[in-house]
Amino acid sequence: MNSVVRPPLSPSSATVTLSTGQMFERLPRPDLAWTPEIAAETAPVYEKVRTVIPAIEWPVYAPLVSAINRLKRQRGAVILAHNYQTPEIFHGVADIVGDSLQLAREATRAKGDVIIQCGVHFMAETSKILNMDKAVLIPDGEAGCSLAASITAADVRRLKALHPGAPVVAYVNTSADVKAEVDICCTSSNAVKVVESLGVPKVIMVPDEYLARNVAAKTRVEIVTFAGRCEVHERFTAEDVAAWKADDPDVTIIAHPECSPEVVAASDFAGSTAHMIDFVKRRKPRKALLVTECSMADNVTAEAPETTFVKPCNLCPHMKRITLEKILATLLDMSGEVTVDPAVADRARRSVERMIAVG
Ligand code: 13P
Ligand code: SF4
Repeated sequence: MNSVVRPPLSPSSATVTLSTGQMFERLPRPDLAWTPEIAAETAPVYEKVRTVIPAIEWPVYAPLVSAINRLKRQRGAVILAHNYQTPEIFHGVADIVGDSLQLAREATRAKGDVIIQCGVHFMAETSKILNMDKAVLIPDGEAGCSLAASITAADVRRLKALHPGAPVVAYVNTSADVKAEVDICCTSSNAVKVVESLGVPKVIMVPDEYLARNVAAKTRVEIVTFAGRCEVHERFTAEDVAAWKADDPDVTIIAHPECSPEVVAASDFAGSTAHMIDFVKRRKPRKALLVTECSMADNVTAEAPETTFVKPCNLCPHMKRITLEKILATLLDMSGEVTVDPAVADRARRSVERMIAVG
């Protein structure tokens, strides 16, 4: 693996030097008392999350939200958060939120010298690949992804040998090593467009078998698949969808394309996390069931007051490793730096930038 989460260079010293040469003072933990001033300062945030965070819990979150927002300004940091982050992160401290494609694009425009990535490791790596001169920190370096873990660069080389001449499209949910080995990246929001942009009759698409099969259903390009799965989305079945519909024929079912083709076919709409949010905001269904990670419905609730969200959903254990407490610790210690070998980053960047250019 050519990417690591670096421990601080001198854990006991008062300063931290990052791989970019930036030096930061370690800061003491602030007072996290719930005061009338904190209540007033965080009231606009609570207004957005009040239907999903009980009032009795807010005094625990609010001082953290306030401290993180103050510290990120002091550190010159920008917080990027994926749509699966919990509402207190998504609405409380994030500067930029979005799906994988939006976060990759925004990473190229990020203001500030430090990026705090609230999401999983491959997202932090992508931000680093696009910003080698900036420090990228992840609040929990163990936040992985079953898709990214399913494939190595050697697997890609084997597939290329089996299908000579076929270009390889890698889902962004892959390591920098894998991105370095492929022709172009894609996300769930642009996968069909990326595949068709290559202008060839056959492509290899890794690692998500279900995403690849969902793309194959929408294009004439032949798609060679790999056996990777998202551990969160593979658990939903077409029988689940049929049961939800039988239970409530009025509910609009919206699935992520990491679900099986059978689940996607049985649903009313399928799209990336950003496309799902957009669909709800535009169509304003009375009742919606998001066949995806649980925080999605919680986060979109604030912006879709006409829609009632019906659970069930599945939690992504990797996304849920990121918490306000860990974001605070990251900002105090400037720990959790993600580095990528520059030679690997150069090759991986070509695949990511080629995807961004497709749009
Ligand atoms: P999106 O690009 O749709 O946000 O998906 C990322 C992801 O990890 C979904 O499981
Ligand atoms: Fe990976 Fe699935 Fe979690 Fe997304 S939801 S980060 S694809 S394990």
